[in-house]
Amino acid sequence: MCGIVAYIGKKQAYPIILKGLKRLEYRGYDSAGIALLHDNQINLYKRQGKVANLEEFAANKDLNGTSGIGHTRWATHGAPNDVNAHPHYSTDGNLALIHNGIIENYDTLRKELILHGYVFKSETDTEVLVHLIDDIQKNEHVSIAEAVRLALLNVVGAYAIVVISKENPNQLIAARKSSPLVVGIGGEGDFYLASDATPIVEYTKRVVYLEDEEIAIVDLNDGLKIFNINNQEKTPYIQQLELQLEALEKGGYEHFMLKEIHEQPRSIRDCFRGRMNADEGWVSLGGIKEYEQKMINAQRIVMVACGTSWHACLVGEYLFEDLARINVEVEYASEFRYRNPIINENDIVIAVSQSGETADTMAALELAKSKGATILGICNVVGSSISRITDAGSYTHAGPEIGVASTKAFTAQVTVLTLMAVSLAHKKGTISETKFHTMLAELEAIPEKVKMVLEKNDIIEKIALEYKDATNALYLGRGSSFPVALEGALKLKEISYIHAEGYPAAEMKHGPIALIDEEMPVFVIATKGTSYEKVVSNIQEVKARKGKIIAIVTEGDETVKEIADHVIEIPDTDEHLVPILATIPFQLLSYHIAVMRGCNVDQPRNLAKSVTVE
Ligand code: AGP
Ligand code: GLU
Repeated sequence: MCGIVAYIGKKQAYPIILKGLKRLEYRGYDSAGIALLHDNQINLYKRQGKVANLEEFAANKDLNGTSGIGHTRWATHGAPNDVNAHPHYSTDGNLALIHNGIIENYDTLRKELILHGYVFKSETDTEVLVHLIDDIQKNEHVSIAEAVRLALLNVVGAYAIVVISKENPNQLIAARKSSPLVVGIGGEGDFYLASDATPIVEYTKRVVYLEDEEIAIVDLNDGLKIFNINNQEKTPYIQQLELQLEALEKGGYEHFMLKEIHEQPRSIRDCFRGRMNADEGWVSLGGIKEYEQKMINAQRIVMVACGTSWHACLVGEYLFEDLARINVEVEYASEFRYRNPIINENDIVIAVSQSGETADTMAALELAKSKGATILGICNVVGSSISRITDAGSYTHAGPEIGVASTKAFTAQVTVLTLMAVSLAHKKGTISETKFHTMLAELEAIPEKVKMVLEKNDIIEKIALEYKDATNALYLGRGSSFPVALEGALKLKEISYIHAEGYPAAEMKHGPIALIDEEMPVFVIATKGTSYEKVVSNIQEVKARKGKIIAIVTEGDETVKEIADHVIEIPDTDEHLVPILATIPFQLLSYHIAVMRGCNVDQPRNLAKSVTVE
């Protein structure tokens, strides 16, 4: 993963890079480092831990320089310590480099370079790149840019890199393959480079997203030039950023996660805005319109994703199958890729991804594409890699999600999948006109109902206080609430480090019920609907073994209230939309428990927001 940011121009580079690194910290926070070019000298500062550690360390050092590169790391090769922190530099100190990705053949390259006399300081895969570029430049007597290109031809793996050198102080050289990189074109002949647009947006809205195997040279005299790996020059495609700066700040909330949870009434509305109208009775997802008939005719649709996005796909599976009667298979992207799946030209593969950069999901899509399948995307980040390689897709429009734990992205993904399912079902004639209109009206009412769920915050906080010291927790649901249970458990695990598992409620009796004792909190989605009575029986089974039940119920429910230890009421809605509402109490619950346990809510240990390594 890792976040990379660089600047070259007339302004002081350090403050720009430091601020950019803070914005990119969601991508990794094992270490941070900066290299600044000043007076024909590269000053390098790097520190284990968060960007704040680097800032403290660098405070009284020479931070001058109008050109520099910075990195915040999520370690893949080598411990998260000062030495392994990026930037890495060449033995003679002429070059420094930052890297996001994995050099898969690093071991072979490293051995060769050692034979050439290079001494390695770090355990990273990245350091081979610096020495390789240096070696090529010295032996072949070529420019640094050319040495970078030749070096990359020898590299197997994924990279986004930026190279700074004493030899060419007016230049930064960048390249990408499978890891993202954006170039921002400033108004004063200056340039910004970063893993995503968030460090750039306050300086310029003019950006170029580099494509795979492209090399960009930003030069204070010659401007921006882009070449492919075969040295053919390409015309930069300049885009206008739509990102708003305010969306990247906490807006008065203590954590991004809390802000993002509370944004959901807005983000869900933004997601269906202009895509449906309950009064006029239509739904239309412009992005995938021309593929709808193919989806209707498809023998099956495969949905691929990871983590929370995979849970959204599971909800999607219920919706597509139940409403549109289309066969759906949901796959972990990482598993799909490596088990030689049977895919053909009639298949449609939909990738769901908040970041649009998840390496496993990208790889699964590439495989599906190579086998001739139609590939579609549901992404949040506009211009992301997945959104660019897919044949078509729909954005979720949730706005930037900074908290590592996904919240508003999940509800937006489920909303898009619901819109798709309803649209397909209507066109295919598998739902009645009445059901179609009810679904649209209910969807339109969802943002208000989400607000009502958010008002339950105090009750949820009290429940959190009671269970904050639990060491284990179970989450149960049936039908489309089963993925909500999985998502609830994931939220608790990732931010509060409490072991939690999600199960279909009926699976309890096949094993997990053995875990129940008076210490075990069991969170159950027991809203009115098809399997309500069955879930009530499952609750009884837990109570009979003295487990603690915290149930999410439909407003006005009396039955579960009598048996459960706590209930959280959510407004009544169409059964297909329950996942959107039911997930919110679990988000708040995990949030409060994590805060009470003193955990780092927005940046939980060992994780990163955007997983760009396989
Ligand atoms: C969610 O809370 C996680 N941090 C994680 O599971 C995430 O959903 C997963 O890494 C997939 O990311 P994506 O949606 O950006 O592809
Ligand atoms: N592989 C490099 C390292 O471990 C970069 C890691 C990354 O991009 O996640 O330092």
